[in-house]
Amino acid sequence: MPNYLVTGAAGFIGRSIAAALLARGDTVRGIDSLITGKRSNLVGLEAMEFMEGDLADPAACAKACAGVEVVFHEAALASVPRSVADPVATNVNCVDATLNLLVAAHAAGVRRVVYAASSSVYGDAPVLPKHEQMLPSPISPYAVAKLAGEHYLTCFTRVYGLETVSLRYFNVFGPYQDPTSHYSGVLAIFCRRMLAGEQPTIYGDGEQSRDFTYIDNVVHANLLAAAAPAEKVSGRMMNLATGSRITLNETVAILRELTGYSGKPAYEPVRAGDIRDSLADIRLAGELLGYAPIVDFREGLRRTVEWYRSGGGVD
Ligand code: UD1
Repeated sequence: MPNYLVTGAAGFIGRSIAAALLARGDTVRGIDSLITGKRSNLVGLEAMEFMEGDLADPAACAKACAGVEVVFHEAALASVPRSVADPVATNVNCVDATLNLLVAAHAAGVRRVVYAASSSVYGDAPVLPKHEQMLPSPISPYAVAKLAGEHYLTCFTRVYGLETVSLRYFNVFGPYQDPTSHYSGVLAIFCRRMLAGEQPTIYGDGEQSRDFTYIDNVVHANLLAAAAPAEKVSGRMMNLATGSRITLNETVAILRELTGYSGKPAYEPVRAGDIRDSLADIRLAGELLGYAPIVDFREGLRRTVEWYRSGGGVD
């Protein structure tokens, strides 16, 4: 029987967590609907028991949770603009899916659920850095859905005694992030375009900033969150980031060095639902998990460019 279930296991973050668990010898089950996840992301994860299934289906959730001790819940339609275009699909795949999963986890006797929450819940509050005592102020349907998931987790801790931890990810990037959709994360899109000698597009003036977080930091924090004592972390949410930010114009300048692209970006109007600046206070994850970033932005970006350069992300 697997110790761990990873939802969204054919997605960028899910497959990275699953790979780390397998590498340390754990038994892992993965579930993915393959709506945005890709079978090609499962290469290298052959030791994982994989189920194609949709968390919107309670029966699939029950099957996935059977015999599991800890769930890493990474499945989502992870895009702000996608949620603006189709808020109902985001609700089904983020809110309904999370509730179904929690019901199934509780029924199956799962001990802990670790949840991919999102920095988008802070909205456009001008305060920087964003800290966990701030009142959430979601702008996009995606942010609303991710926040609803957090509340369901806390509720399941309070009402049913299920251990839960929510990690509010800030703009995660790295190998295996899909660069092919216009809903993809900006760095994946920029890496792919600039390596191909194509002009990147910046929405707005490029002075918007993000606390871009390299995937290894996210995997590291998830493993800490699974192992931390319940009395310290259960029912808690915390930021997961690096605690530093960079503008899109600056990232393009670094990517010009790393990719050899010599052109300038195109500028288009600001995207609906976007926030301007994002920077995390990461002290709480430090206190509760002993988390500190293990790979900084530049090194993460260098590794990411190398991965796309070597053919990653192209099926
Ligand atoms: C948001 C959430 C994040 C979530 C992610 C999922 C915030 C702070 N973060 O990130 O938690 O996981 O959605 O997608 O709300 N951009 C360009 N050119 C492009 C693509 C994007 O300029 O080709 C710009 C966007 O307009 C935005 C920035 O890059 O200003 C980052 O966009 P994106 O990578 O989609 O992530 P967020 O929307 O910040």
